[in-house]
Amino acid sequence: MSLPASENIDMAESRCYNITVYYICLVAALGGLLFGLDQGFIANSLDTIRDVYHLDIAGGGKYSAMLATGGVIGAALSGVFARVFGRKKSLMLAGFIFSLASLFSAFLPSLVMLNACRFFLGFGVGVSSFVVPLYLSETTPAAIRGSMGTLFQLMITIGILLISITNVFIARTFITPTVALPLMFLVITLFAILMFIGSFMLPESPRWLMLKGKKSEALNTLKRIFGSQDEIDTEVKEIEATLSATKKVGISVVFKGYFLKVLFIGVFLQIFQQLVGINAIIYYAPTIFGYAGMQGIVALLAVPVVNMIFTLPAIRLVEKWGRKKLLYVGAVFMLITMLAAGLVFQHIGNVADAAVVSDGSKMVLLATVIIYIFGFAVSWGPVVWIVCSEIFPLKGREIGMTITTIVNWTFAGILMRYALSFMEVFGKAPLFYVFALFCMIAIIFVALFVPETKGVTLEQLESRLTAKK
Ligand code: BGC
Repeated sequence: MSLPASENIDMAESRCYNITVYYICLVAALGGLLFGLDQGFIANSLDTIRDVYHLDIAGGGKYSAMLATGGVIGAALSGVFARVFGRKKSLMLAGFIFSLASLFSAFLPSLVMLNACRFFLGFGVGVSSFVVPLYLSETTPAAIRGSMGTLFQLMITIGILLISITNVFIARTFITPTVALPLMFLVITLFAILMFIGSFMLPESPRWLMLKGKKSEALNTLKRIFGSQDEIDTEVKEIEATLSATKKVGISVVFKGYFLKVLFIGVFLQIFQQLVGINAIIYYAPTIFGYAGMQGIVALLAVPVVNMIFTLPAIRLVEKWGRKKLLYVGAVFMLITMLAAGLVFQHIGNVADAAVVSDGSKMVLLATVIIYIFGFAVSWGPVVWIVCSEIFPLKGREIGMTITTIVNWTFAGILMRYALSFMEVFGKAPLFYVFALFCMIAIIFVALFVPETKGVTLEQLESRLTAKK
């Protein structure tokens, strides 16, 4: 059956629009993937790194945490980069840094240089964790913008899983650590180069082009993204309205009462997202399982698999149940499982040799960690980022999200750096009890301070929060 000529044209246009949009999503999503590859790298490479560089526990922690130090600096500067150089160039920069730092690491340089490379990988992660969601929200059509936010978190968990699998495979296939470690880094390099080269062909964000007064270039980009002139006109109007509303936003916005209130909420949500212990588990689960005598493939891969799988239902639940309910449910799961993990370690603490730990204790520990990760992945993982992208008034959104991202990385770094050393000094069980305590405080915090943002406009939220007290 043949279509009328006008419909034929529409279909052709919407096809072309789809290709550009999906290309944008694909390349930008690589930024999320690289975040995950670097975040998940340590879990199954730590022993190899320690072997090659003769590191003790504290040295391993220091290397791991370098990523967070770079992340803090990258996140702090990314707002300036994105504004001055543009979103596209910032993505290219992130891709370039990822490629160079991972490639250089593969040559097994001195420890100082290796740490510097990890810092720069973190820098790239910090930049892309700010620029990728921003770029996606500015270049994709409104209808798919919401899903783009969750795509980023999903890509992080896919990256964590992917690198866990390749690291396990490499470590088992190439037994010599000095052969295995370069190959592990080269997996990151491969995806980093794809992102770097891919980003050359990305269109610049029309919003940024308009911000810089390059309206005709912006229109050219919009033509590649949207199917019809109507959509382009609407988008241009919307961009112009936003730009005039956000003109002259200075640091002073940070001192406004309402802004401080939402900033307080965002900052503490990020602190709790980390202090419930997630990165101690993401980074060190294989080591922790090792303390209990577990070394099989399940111990190595259970965490990243469960983490990825249960991010998927979160995408729907966040709209169905709302943010607060998910935060409660997740925190309760994490509280109970961290208490249980503490009890298991208290029980096996008296056993001198991990090889004689009973199968029962191993199974209980495995189950608690799996349920814990389920609890995080379905709630605090995506929800905290979503809430942080929703609560700030338009005028202070960039500053607000930069600050909350920095806080996230700072506390992530504390966990990466000190989790294993803490266990060495105070014993295994107390760390899990500390995490359980923070789960409890997090529940109280959510009940007292966090507003429900599901289906609430920025204006409604603002009047609700300013009305209180
Ligand atoms: C957190 C990261 C964490 C990741 C695990 C993110 O939401 O911010 O610190 O490693 O989830 O999936």
